[in-house]
This record gives sequence, C-alpha cells and structure tokens, in this order.
Amino acid sequence: MSARLAPNPNLKRMAPVLVLWLAVCLSGTWAVDRGNFKTCDQSAFCKRQRALKPGESPYRALLETMELTNTRLTLQLINDNNKVRLLLELYRLQGNMTRVKINELKPLKPRYEVPDVLIREPPTEPLSLLSQDENGVVLSLGAESQRVIVSARPFRLDIMEGRDVLMSLNSRGLLAFEHLRMRKDTFSYKVTSTVASVWDNIKRVFSSQADPEAEKKEEGDPASQAEAANEEEEKVEDGMWEETFKSHSDSKSNGPSAISLDFSLPGVEHVYGIPEHADTLRLKTTDNGDPYRLYNLDVFQYELFNPMALYGAVPVMLAHNAQRTTGIFWLNAAETWVDISSNTAGKTVFGKMLDYVQGSSETPQTDVRWISESGIIDVFIMLGPTAKDIFSQYASLTGTQAFPPLASLAYHQCRWNYNDQEDVQTVDAGFDEHDIPYDFIWLDIEHTDGKRYFTWDPHKFATPKEMLQGLVDKKRKMVAIVDPHIKVDSNYKIHNEIRSRGFYIKNKDGGDYEGWCWPGSAGYPDFTRADMRAWWASMFAYDQYEGSMENLYTWNDMNEPSVFNGPEVTMHKDAKHGDWEHRDVHNLYGFYVQMATAEGQIQRSGGVERPFVLTRAFFAGSQRYGAVWTGDNAAEWDHLKISIPMCLSLGLVGISFCGADVGGFFKSPNTELLVRWYQTGAYQPFFRAHAHLDTPRREPWLFGPENTALIRDAVRQRYTLLPYWYQQFYTAHRTGQPVMRPLWVEYPQDPATFALDDEFLIGRDLLVHPVTEEGARGVTAYLPGKDEVWFDVHTFQKHNGAQNLYIPVTISSIPVFQRGGSIIPRKLRVRRSSTCMEHDPYTLYVALNPQRTAEGELYIDDGHTFNYDKEFIHRRLSYANNILSSVNLAPEAQFSTRSWIERIVILGASKPSKVTLKTADGQESQLEFEFDASMSVLTLRKPSMNAGEDWTVALQ
Ligand code: NOJ
Repeated sequence: MSARLAPNPNLKRMAPVLVLWLAVCLSGTWAVDRGNFKTCDQSAFCKRQRALKPGESPYRALLETMELTNTRLTLQLINDNNKVRLLLELYRLQGNMTRVKINELKPLKPRYEVPDVLIREPPTEPLSLLSQDENGVVLSLGAESQRVIVSARPFRLDIMEGRDVLMSLNSRGLLAFEHLRMRKDTFSYKVTSTVASVWDNIKRVFSSQADPEAEKKEEGDPASQAEAANEEEEKVEDGMWEETFKSHSDSKSNGPSAISLDFSLPGVEHVYGIPEHADTLRLKTTDNGDPYRLYNLDVFQYELFNPMALYGAVPVMLAHNAQRTTGIFWLNAAETWVDISSNTAGKTVFGKMLDYVQGSSETPQTDVRWISESGIIDVFIMLGPTAKDIFSQYASLTGTQAFPPLASLAYHQCRWNYNDQEDVQTVDAGFDEHDIPYDFIWLDIEHTDGKRYFTWDPHKFATPKEMLQGLVDKKRKMVAIVDPHIKVDSNYKIHNEIRSRGFYIKNKDGGDYEGWCWPGSAGYPDFTRADMRAWWASMFAYDQYEGSMENLYTWNDMNEPSVFNGPEVTMHKDAKHGDWEHRDVHNLYGFYVQMATAEGQIQRSGGVERPFVLTRAFFAGSQRYGAVWTGDNAAEWDHLKISIPMCLSLGLVGISFCGADVGGFFKSPNTELLVRWYQTGAYQPFFRAHAHLDTPRREPWLFGPENTALIRDAVRQRYTLLPYWYQQFYTAHRTGQPVMRPLWVEYPQDPATFALDDEFLIGRDLLVHPVTEEGARGVTAYLPGKDEVWFDVHTFQKHNGAQNLYIPVTISSIPVFQRGGSIIPRKLRVRRSSTCMEHDPYTLYVALNPQRTAEGELYIDDGHTFNYDKEFIHRRLSYANNILSSVNLAPEAQFSTRSWIERIVILGASKPSKVTLKTADGQESQLEFEFDASMSVLTLRKPSMNAGEDWTVALQ
C-alpha cells in the first residue's frame, strides 16, 4: 500500500500511514514494519495454546457414548481437567478421505462452521466396527486395509494402512478446545450460573426434545457437578476477554474460543502448502521462531523467508515421502497458526547417514499442530496415496480451477496507473509499434472518480466506451480495479444503496463499520451475505456499471480486507457479520469478494461468457473464481526467485492461476532484472507486468532496442505456447491437477526433487529453470527421471534424465526442456493478441522417449464461453511404431476449427525414406520432410490436415 499526498480533511487519521510511507520513501530502506503485525506471543490465543506442551492429553473418549451408523461415528470426549465434553464425529469420505469434526457437545451458543467453501456435502462411505474393548475401538475405513484406531485414555486417533501408521491425531496431547463460557470476572459465579440456568430453561421451553444433559444435572449427575466445580476454578488470563494491540482493543464477547490439534506424520520429512507465505516451497520447522501464520493481511513491503501472514490463506498441507503423499485440510476461516517440528530437523546428511549405518531405529517424523482462534475443528485427512490423488481428493471437496478465457493466459500490461485514455491509447500503440503482443491493459484505482469504484474519472476517462471499443477493434481487453472498500459519500450511488439495504459490516455497537482506505472513510460490504453478493453481482450489469463493455474485466484488490487504520492494517475482529464476529470469518472475506465479482461478470453476459477476476486475498476454494497474484513484491532478485515457490505452493492447494508482478511492484528493476523477470513470468501461469505509482515508467520498449528485443522474445515464447497452457488449464479445471508443478509431484520417489525452489514443471512435459541469478553465466538444472530424456526446446539437444545439467546462459537464455515421450502443440505465428491468433495453424513438437513413443493432447474451443461443456475438440496425439496419429477423445462434443497443422517437428527421430499422411476421408499423400542428422530432428512441412480431424502420419 501507499498513499498520495492530497489535501484531505481527515489527514490526521491518515497520519500514521503517511509517516510510514514517507519514512520508507526517504530512507529508501526495504523492510516490513514488523511492529505492525503480531507475533504468536502478541496474539493471546496463540500464546496460550503454544504454552501447552506435548504430554498426556486431558481428553478421554467416553466409549459408552459411541454411536455408529453406517457412515458416521460419534463419540463424546471429556476433558478431565474441567469436565467439559466435546462431540467427535468421524466420517469415511468417498475417494480415500476421512473427516474428523470436533465441537463442543453443548456450546453456550453455536460456534462458526465454514460455509460455501465445500462444493457439496462430501459423500460418505460405509464405516464398520472391527473390534472394541475398554481401551478403544477399531474401525475399518473401507478399501485398502485402512483402519482408524480410537484410543480412549488418553484420546487419540491413529489412521493405519496395513501395519503402517499414516497419521496420528492428538498423539502429542495437544488437542485443546476452549469452550464458550460466561464471563466470571464481571459477574459473580452465582449470577453467572443463574443466568446460565435461566438460559437453559428458555432453551428447554423452546426445544421440542428433552435435554438429557440438563436432566442429568437435575438428577445430580456427578460429571456435571464436577464440571461446575471445575469451571469455577478456570482462570481468567490476560487476552481472554479483551486484547489490545498497539492502540487497538479487541473486545471478545465470546471470551476464549481457540481450538488446537496435533498431527503426527511418521516417515515424513517434507511438508508443503499452507500458502500464502514468502518462503521456500518445502516448509521449515518452526521450533525456533513463530509458527506459520494464516491471517489475510495487507503487509506493506513484505519480507522473504519468514512465516508471517500475507494476503491469502489456504489451510491445506501436503506431507510427502518417497512412498506416499497425504494431506490435511483444516477447514477454519479464523486466524490460524501452524507449528511444524521434525525429529530430523537440524540433522546433517552425515548425521542421517550415521543413523543409517548405526542402524538407528528412529524413523523420521514430522509433527504439525494447528491452532485457530475460533470456530470448530473440521479436518479432512486426504490419504493419497499419490500427490495426484491428493489433488483429486481436494478438488472433490473444494472444486477445481475455473477455466479461464484463453486471452487471460496471454500477457497483461498493468501499472498504477495508466493516466488517461490517451495514455492507454499510446501504450496500446507502443506494443504494435514494437511488435510485442499483449491481450489486456489494466487500470488501477486512479481511473475512478475519487476512488469510487464502478465509476470513471470524468476528465481522464471521459469516454470509457470509446476507449474500450478501440481495444475491441484490436481484439484486446481491459481490466479495471474494483475494491471492496466503499467511499462513505452520500452522493455515491453504490454507498447509498449498500447503506440503505443494511449491507455494510457492522461495528461491535451495531453501527456501520467504517475504516480508512484509498477513498478516505470507507464502509465494507458484508460479502458473507448471499443477498449482498447477489446485489454486488447485479452492479456489473452493463446498464449499472456505466462505461463498461464485454471486454472489461475486474481486479479485486485490498480484500483481506485492508483497513489502513485498523489493527494489523485490517478489520477489527469484533466487527459483526450478522451474528458472527469478523474473527470467525476473516480469512473468507476475499474469497467472497471474488466470488460475487465473478458471478457479476457471468450474469452480465446472461451466463454465456467466462469471467476473469484477479484477487489479492483468497481462501480454500478461491480457485473456482479466477486468478491470484502475490501482491506487492519488489524489484529485487530475491523477489523474482521467491515467485517460484510462492506459485508452486498455491498450485499444490488448488490455485493454479498464479503470478507475481513482473518487474517487481516497489522500486525500479535494472534492465537485467526486468528482462529476467519477463523471461520467468512468461513461463508462469498468470503473466502480468505491474509497477507502483511512484516508479518510473517501464513499458517494454523503454530500455533500448536490445532489451526490447529480449522482452519481445520472452513474450512471444509465451504466445507460441498458448495452446499448451490452455490445454493445461483445461486439465486443471477437469481434474484438479496443478498447472505449475514442483518436480516431486511427477518424480515422487526422487529425493533430489523434494526441495527445489528454482525450477518447475508446466503440466508434465515442460521443465523450466529460469535464470534468476544476477550476472549469471550458467545455471544448473536438475533433469529428473532416470528413464527420461529431455530436449532443450531452443536447440533440440537431448539430455539424459536424473542429472544435474550445467547450462551456459546468455542474457537471452530461458532454459526450458521438453520431456521425451511428449507432444506439445504450439502456434508459431505470433500476432497482436491471442484472439488474433485464434484460427492460426499449429506446429506439433513430438519429443521421442527412448522407447520411441510420445503422447500429447490438443484442446480447442471458442476460448471464452461456457459452451466448452459441449462444444470443443479434444484429441489425443500419439506416436508409436513410427506412426503419429490424432484420435478423438470426445466424440460426443461438437466443434469445428479452421486451424490446421502446418508443421510437425519430431525430436530424437531417425531419417525415414518416406512419410505418408492419411486423412479422415481415406486420402493418402506423401509429405515433404527435412532431416537434421546432427540433432536427429525430422521436420514435416505443410502436412496441412485439419487440427480437429482424424489423421495418421506414417514414417517408413
Ligand atoms: C495494492 C496492490 O497490491 C497494488 O497492486 C495496487 O497497485 C495498489 N494497491 C493500488 O491499487
């Protein structure tokens, strides 16, 4: 964030933000102001929970309360210290998953359960009892000889397959559930219990069923009496009923409500996921610092390699070893901290070898512990066994990546800000003049009329439709920003409507919550309400959003939400969303904003067009609504590097459409960094250049002809590969597999792939090791797979797998390799925009593996509507026995294309004597070819068959 110094009556309230901003500009130093954000120690619930050390759990399973239906086990747990009971529910879910829910048996009032993230109530499978005695029960989890052992005293769960423990819950005794209670330091216990019993009586009168617990109390049930006695003794600690941070106080009308649970992962040394953090792909142990924090925050000048919270939160972790991948999905939207420890952390490779040689029996193990401020424990244990299974399992819960319009996979040109329509036109023309393709130009907050979203600055953007039409004429598009903070201004239609409909989030006293953001004083619509979201969506209708057209798409920023004068630059936790506190829903806010915006775009087209919405804040399930980016990075080499693990981590948890600001948002990149960033961004899913308001202009042609040529080349490489990107997104949408993948996903048994932060795969077949080191003369890329060969896509040179390959580089190098055994379609005639290339012909790159086979896919549709359900072409391309063929994978689908195959390049080929093409109508013809014996490359020119039809090419 940053702010412009404009005269403002409320300048005083902005003072802290402005001082910070000025200090940074003047000193030129880069550092997050850590004092603005809480450490675990400063977050009362985290501190309380972390103070609990592993040991014997106070929880005991009351086996006599067990109920087992065909698909559900329920069981009460009792905390022997305070006698409060919890209800455990356990389900076996279809697709090799287990769901464990723990809530208070009788909470004083309902606790928040996250809605709208799961795409449906997950279908269950039968559970059956295998054995039972006074120590516990053993249940069968259906197939694969999986069992769950519920131990009673102390309570723990072990999930086993055969003789292996896959995961244990509460094995370190860290289950903690702060039950809701009446406040005792302001009421005497007597009064409290009177209130409680009045409340109980009221409940009883209105409830149709008798309350057995209350009856027990009346009957003098000893457990209940002990409960009362112990409750009296529970101590009130600082931060339980109110908490202050800097000048902000948080009133906690519900009192302490945190939950925590530990998971042990025997045999596991590598865990991944829980974005968003600016850290390595492989998560680190947290014993000597703070846990990883999940709390959506607008972190000004975020630092790298630390577990601090960032803009988005996906509470999903993957655990991997060479035999298996498992996953934990902790469905909770409150502030969450995740601790990781490992018994091998800190051991050197030598130490591990020594253990091995000495026959040390200690198996490696990773222990994790999740702590959330409120809500319930609702955890999905995904049992793999492969990473690909985890992706499908998680997708079956939260949905897959939205299938984006093809153009949104092309290049985006953004800055804060393009100043006016003329500026937009000049930049647009600049791309043509320098022969660089682009598809979207972006407008940041300055395009609005005084930061009133859905409006245009009347002077600078007086005729938005004319501007948009200019882009339509060139088959290009625009994105305009629409943030969720709404200027409090009685002359602003959007504000008036939201206020009069009662749609704003309320403060703790019931008035509309107001915070400070770009427009000054702002209200925050309550996006957790379905009626609010429906209204918001309706604002994108062409007759509501004046000046908008079909080629205008949306960017949702600041939706953590960012509140400049709020605690930790966000909303007060005691703000109210109906009956719920902001505390309960915080991490969901951005998810809902993007959901409502995407819905608006769909509706404005009558359900025909796919939306494109970029969001900064996100949660589990956000993949269903569009793209995310990694926020306000900086023009520094380390920021370029971290874009790789940051996007890889997001891909692992379902969010494939990820990118980082190319060039870096803050500061100015030198030309080398800018070029390297374009080269890297060209191979990441969301490819957008962006820059801060105060940075010098950096359109690609401003750095001399050589750098322009280098950037042009990188962007053009992206455009040639769009058919492959599009097909990868189609697969991600259909199956939940990530587009940008860590190598270990494809080579799960190769430990050399487990902690790579500087290279990645796109789909299965392209390996990218971008140059991210300043002044690099070479890079060392790891080419995985001892049975694989890899072809350099630029030189066609072949390399064997399972080796570290040193590649000398120049400033124009982007090391990219195609896997032998794959077929990749490209379009080589790069034009102004991707839409201009719609009907262009394809070139197929067939890279043969040592068995001389290859496979690939070709996916084609109209590129922008939802008709892809029925109207598309999906073909399998395969090469075997010297025959390349195209067969229809979707014979029921309808679509025709004008595109044809203009060239086939076979890598690792031998020279044929003749090449025969056979088309669908049975016609045969001989194809011309060229053979480069030094590189073993065979090029078939102009085979000219239609890309959507059956054909074979036989090499003799
Ligand atoms: C913060 C965003 O992260 C950044 O990309 C944007 O330019 C500014 N807000 C202004 O809208």
